[in-house]
Amino acid sequence: MTAKTLGRNLEILEKYRKYTDIAELRVDCLDPDERLLIRRFPEQAGIPVILTIRRDIDGGLFVGGEGARISLMARGLAYAEADRRRNFAYLDIEEDLNVSSLEEAARTFGTRIIRSYHNIKGTDADLPVKIRSMRRSGDEIVKVAVMANSTRDVLELLCAGKECEGYEKILISMGHFGIYSRILSEQFDSLFSYCGALSESDTLPAAPGQIEIRELANLYRFRNITRATKVYGVTGYPLKATSSPSFFNTVFELEGSNAVYVPFPADSITDLIDIAKELNVEGISVTVPYKEAIIPFLDFQSDEVGVIGACNTLTLTPQGWLGTNTDAKGFSDSLLKFLNKSNFKRQRVTVIGAGGAARSVVFELHRLGAKVLVLNRTVHKARRLAAPYKFAWGGLDEQGIEKMEKYRDIIIQTTSAGMEGINPDNLSDDPAAMYNFCGQEEVMDLVYKPKMTAFLKRASNAGCNVLNGFDMLIRQARYQYTQFTGKEFPEHFLSRVQFGEF
Ligand code: ATR
Repeated sequence: MTAKTLGRNLEILEKYRKYTDIAELRVDCLDPDERLLIRRFPEQAGIPVILTIRRDIDGGLFVGGEGARISLMARGLAYAEADRRRNFAYLDIEEDLNVSSLEEAARTFGTRIIRSYHNIKGTDADLPVKIRSMRRSGDEIVKVAVMANSTRDVLELLCAGKECEGYEKILISMGHFGIYSRILSEQFDSLFSYCGALSESDTLPAAPGQIEIRELANLYRFRNITRATKVYGVTGYPLKATSSPSFFNTVFELEGSNAVYVPFPADSITDLIDIAKELNVEGISVTVPYKEAIIPFLDFQSDEVGVIGACNTLTLTPQGWLGTNTDAKGFSDSLLKFLNKSNFKRQRVTVIGAGGAARSVVFELHRLGAKVLVLNRTVHKARRLAAPYKFAWGGLDEQGIEKMEKYRDIIIQTTSAGMEGINPDNLSDDPAAMYNFCGQEEVMDLVYKPKMTAFLKRASNAGCNVLNGFDMLIRQARYQYTQFTGKEFPEHFLSRVQFGEF
């Protein structure tokens, strides 16, 4: 609870009560006058409350001296009542704060001590030693919240948690890399996760990487996650926005599966694979930029992965990691449905781009009988993609565009030009601006955000039928679901599945 007044904190607590097990009152975020009135907060809140006065060096807002902070803590504990529900349930005391009178007072009146350590810059090297040595007595709960600057940092915390199994502790990897440590508390052997009412305009994230409370409760179904919960996720970098958690978690909820799907942002695919092993992850969706880099980690793979050279789906099997590619089938299913066809025979097709996405597209076009021209900004990549299939190639230049005359039944845009979130100027990018649509072409853009790229708008204005990549996204996710779970996708849920962003 990081609002400026106690009244406002109570208001927010009321609104989110059904998602809240314990409230942490961040006294350092309160206006100075309000800080003097904290004693009655637990009674007013009506649920267990943690008293925390976080210093600025630990990521909080308290800038006064230690004397002032200690007397505020004492004020919170003073006049303890026999009915413990009227006292603070927990007191957060940093590991370097030595005030035995405060600790004694807390213990006497049943307030449990959370002995905390924060490192807002990085992850310490000696975490197991730290966890074991922090408690001053056996009844304290250890809290270690450290900034993850890499996937390896999260791995360190996860392994430290396992090594110190049995210690009551709270472990958090702060920042974007550590987001799943806030969801998979059980797997990290952590007692609590902290989240915030972040959609309230006056509520600050109490620490970097914190998740919005309803998202943690509803999307990830935090309260249902146990060690028996099957864990899936999506990896990529930077992985700032992905719709996959929303898709898979909604399906898992609708069908009543004890499973969760989390984002795994990763700066190292090697470390991510180690994390997946430690967390017993059963399936991973792989996205930009790891669809090729993941291949050496596979224990075996489908034929498509071998030919396409890109893998977007990892499934744990008794024989190890199986790599498959659901982008390819997702693409062809979507386009064939749109065209009301069962194959691409006699179709002359231009593919714009020669990156990872184009490779899946060209593989499917070949498999289903199309004649293809590949055009790419960097010509040699177009040739490298097209030549093994004996397809035509060219650059995105005058000569290349001229070649399109003979390959324009279908035009497929596979580059990230025009995609939201690449850069602000990108939205107006049209990779084939020199090409004039005649209006008869069937045009697909793999981009789905925005719904209409500059390229697709131009095609539509010329009278072409146009299709964006959203339907393909859903189709490839459905194949992924089947790959992960061994079950048919429950089609009757499809209308209720959302593709929000985390
Ligand atoms: P993906 O897996 O999304 O296909 P990729 O493998 O990095 O990503 O490939 C990106 C593709 O988009 C490439 O074909 C790239 O062209 P280059 O090979 O010349 O780099 C293409 N691309 C990206 N931005 C582009 C732009 N603004 N105009 C034209 N092509 C672009």
